[in-house]
Amino acid sequence: MERFELEKELQEEIRRTVFGGTFIKIVQSVRRGGKTFRISMRPVTIGAESKFQAEMVDGGQVQVRNFDAAGAARGLEEIINQRGARELHLIATTGDLHVRVTKKGKVLVSRSAPMQREAPAQTHDRVKDLPLNRFESAAFLRVAGLTDGSGEIRASMRGKYDQVNKFLGEVCGIVSGGSDCTRQPLTVVDCGCGKAYLTLAMYGFLTGAMGFENVRVTGVDRREDVILAAREMAKRLDWQDRVEFVQKDIADFDIEKRPGENVMVTSLHACDTATDEALAKAVEWKAKWVLSAPCCQHELQKSLTGANANAVFAGLLRQAILRERLCDILTDTFRALIMRMAGYRTQVVEFVAPERTARNILLKCEAGLKPAQAQTVSEYLDLRNFWKVVPWLEERLATRIRPMLERFE
Ligand SMILES: C[S@@+](CC[C@H](N)C(=O)[O-])C[C@H]1O[C@@H](n2cnc3c(N)ncnc32)[C@H](O)[C@@H]1O
Repeated sequence: MERFELEKELQEEIRRTVFGGTFIKIVQSVRRGGKTFRISMRPVTIGAESKFQAEMVDGGQVQVRNFDAAGAARGLEEIINQRGARELHLIATTGDLHVRVTKKGKVLVSRSAPMQREAPAQTHDRVKDLPLNRFESAAFLRVAGLTDGSGEIRASMRGKYDQVNKFLGEVCGIVSGGSDCTRQPLTVVDCGCGKAYLTLAMYGFLTGAMGFENVRVTGVDRREDVILAAREMAKRLDWQDRVEFVQKDIADFDIEKRPGENVMVTSLHACDTATDEALAKAVEWKAKWVLSAPCCQHELQKSLTGANANAVFAGLLRQAILRERLCDILTDTFRALIMRMAGYRTQVVEFVAPERTARNILLKCEAGLKPAQAQTVSEYLDLRNFWKVVPWLEERLATRIRPMLERFE
């Protein structure tokens, strides 16, 4: 038998399972020239016809095609006879088969315990070109608990799955890419990383889909339990050398920048002023990109309703929900203006549909604007003086921001 070749009996077992009545899905991943090529196939029903749907992911490109049984048989032979190091995962209602072919051509086979599970509905939902489909994400999705044993997105995790997909889509939009950019070292700091859905997805996406060659990702969170769980996940994915998790308050965390390195700061629903702290750190670290989806914000509410409260808005401020929404909008407006003053091109967008999360605003910032531009500073001062408040982020970045304001006051 040649190196990389599967035993005849193993080949037969795969064919029998795919064309028997228990087949759910087959997935094979191959590393080739620094890129991952993934092919998966599953049975689907289109109209009254039974077909096989194949999804091919080659670097960042996704192709989906439907085949009849003869076409599927030819595709399966290509999967079985693939050469080189690869991983094959065959999922059936009766159990799973894992085949790993090492770089040296050794074939390692493992099987789950026998089981009886339901086959998922064979609907013809075309695989969309989502960021999480643009790299070999199956292991990440499983380890992070976003998918179940048959690779389907858990209903309870659909919201988080969509948030992460859309967030990555925004990353792809703001990071220019191209070989100059992807060859430069990149450090990503995910502030208030929680259970690390975004942190881990970011590493997989930047390296597997965008082609970054030298990426370090750090998740920071003050909770011990989430940091321990996140470290365990990185280990299970074998990413622990490039993705680390630090248990600290964001305020106490610092980075050591490597020469020629770009920095990206992200935060997804970091509570209250933790979002401001993430923005402040990004400014201090001279991050090139900052993507921050704020969460609850209480700080401004305290000042707006105090002795200096603007009497014209008494009727609005009395209603808790209206007060909260007004404060959310004002806080994010101040944040955007401060980031512009600090030299960031800043956009405020809705990054995900409101039914997925009510906290669906994203501040997208890219370094490169002339800091302290007169119009931005005067818009900021007008708004702040009208509301008679001092935003938390201004206090936090006082040494940088106040001199800009003093020139106009
Ligand atoms: C709502 S969770 C979001 C977690 C994650 N980003 C996500 O979207 O799944 C907010 C996280 O921020 C963390 N956090 C809040 N304030 C923080 C601070 N000042 N420093 C570090 N972590 C903080 C919390 O412990 C929590 O895990």
